[in-house]
Amino acid sequence: MKVAVVVYSLTGNTRVVAQAVAARLGAPLVTLLAPALRPHAGATFTLGFRTFFLPRTSVQLDRPLPEELDLVVLAAPVWAGRVAFPMRVWLRSAPRLPQSCALVMTGGAPKESAAAMEDFAQCAGRPVAARLYADDSSIRSGQPLPQVESFCGGLTGQSPLDR
Ligand SMILES: Cc1cc2nc3c(=O)[nH]c(=O)nc-3n(C[C@H](O)[C@H](O)[C@H](O)COP(=O)(O)O)c2cc1C
Repeated sequence: MKVAVVVYSLTGNTRVVAQAVAARLGAPLVTLLAPALRPHAGATFTLGFRTFFLPRTSVQLDRPLPEELDLVVLAAPVWAGRVAFPMRVWLRSAPRLPQSCALVMTGGAPKESAAAMEDFAQCAGRPVAARLYADDSSIRSGQPLPQVESFCGGLTGQSPLDR
């Protein structure tokens, strides 16, 4: 199965999870850049606020997506209960993506927001093969995230014992 991981990350948490997923799947990691957006005090408020008003910002991939993918893993944080808007903006630009996707979300809340994940799925606009949520404190603990193994194992049909 040919897979690539596309990640948007403002402060690095989603990148940590996406890197672990890409390494486990042996997939290339492509970064979605939104150069106009920078982490700053108050970002939760200002960027969160913009999330609600058909936000625009310029976005670009750091390299082209590989051709003829079977599946793309899309990774982005929760912003204001939705998918972070740079990912939304990029998906709205109708990039050439495979029929199937899998979603990785990170957030400050200890539990996944079903509404945020559903928003992400709607933006992706294609069947979702698997979903993973990781919260900030688990990511920052530096410990391996068990959900990465189950997410990737579910995608490849491989359990850790098979490897
Ligand atoms: C603008 C903004 C809005 C956020 N809104 C939420 C939220 O609604 N729910 C939540 O659990 N975390 C929220 N967070 C926290 C981020 O989702 C969390 O810190 C995430 O891991 C950041 O990912 P990143 O480091 O890859 O940018 C928000 C953060 C920002 C910057």
